[in-house]
Amino acid sequence: MSDRYAVIGNPVAHSKSPWIHAAFARATGQELEYGRIEAPLGGFAQALERFRAGGGRGLNVTLPFKEQAFRCCTRTTGRARAAQAVNTLVLDAGILGDNTDGIGLARDLSQNLGVELAGKTLLLMGAGGAAQGVLGALLEARVAQLVIANRTPAKALALAARFAAVSACGYEELAGRSFDIVINATSAGLAGEAPALPRGVLGEHTLAYDMVYGRDTPFLAAARAAGARACDGLGMLVEQAAESFFVWRGVRPQTRPVLEALRGSR
Ligand code: ATR
Repeated sequence: MSDRYAVIGNPVAHSKSPWIHAAFARATGQELEYGRIEAPLGGFAQALERFRAGGGRGLNVTLPFKEQAFRCCTRTTGRARAAQAVNTLVLDAGILGDNTDGIGLARDLSQNLGVELAGKTLLLMGAGGAAQGVLGALLEARVAQLVIANRTPAKALALAARFAAVSACGYEELAGRSFDIVINATSAGLAGEAPALPRGVLGEHTLAYDMVYGRDTPFLAAARAAGARACDGLGMLVEQAAESFFVWRGVRPQTRPVLEALRGSR
């Protein structure tokens, strides 16, 4: 019987992870099955235990369970602790929690989009789980300056305080400033909204990145209107999956063919 993996979340029907991991398995000759589990909102721990008891080897965890999954682990990696959330579980004698979201974003920027992070000025918008999940990896990539801005500035300040050399503010305070890279880690796009960035923050020199994929968000539209380069989060999705695959199988799949296939099938 091949090793079993799955993505667990709610909702999870839309997840591209089964398709991505099946493509990785084919390309690397790994024998595995990868399914999807929609856990009831109050039933994450039970669903995890059922999958583990049935011989499941690993899980990807998606919304809204990433923080809860972190608390279920018997061991965690440094990058999971930095994020206080996990998107990857290795099920063995215990439960190892890892987080590949940050490295996925950093690799998408550097390898797929050709944007070196070292020495750049970076604005991260949002102070929820998505922002917290990628901060550690962005800092490890040695950005020159990292600012977190949030609609509720107190949340940005609290998040920044956990990391050295990160500053925080509300959006109005960004007036007159500009950044090499602006990343949208808010959920505003899902509601058809954009963070209220002052005019001038986005310009022709900016890479504007939205962690959301599969839709053209108002943030990306505003970035294009300002002459910026606008990118969605599909590459991050594929790169975080590749890192999870590596954690589980010890084999690093190529991501470009999978990303190209996903872009082509839209
Ligand atoms: P996630 O896990 O996706 O980060 P979250 O923890 O609920 O979800 O956080 C959502 C983030 O998006 C927050 O930073 C939120 O700002 P507030 O802290 O001020 O609520 C941000 N957000 C959501 N809708 C927004 C909007 N319309 N404009 C600006 N920011 C928004």
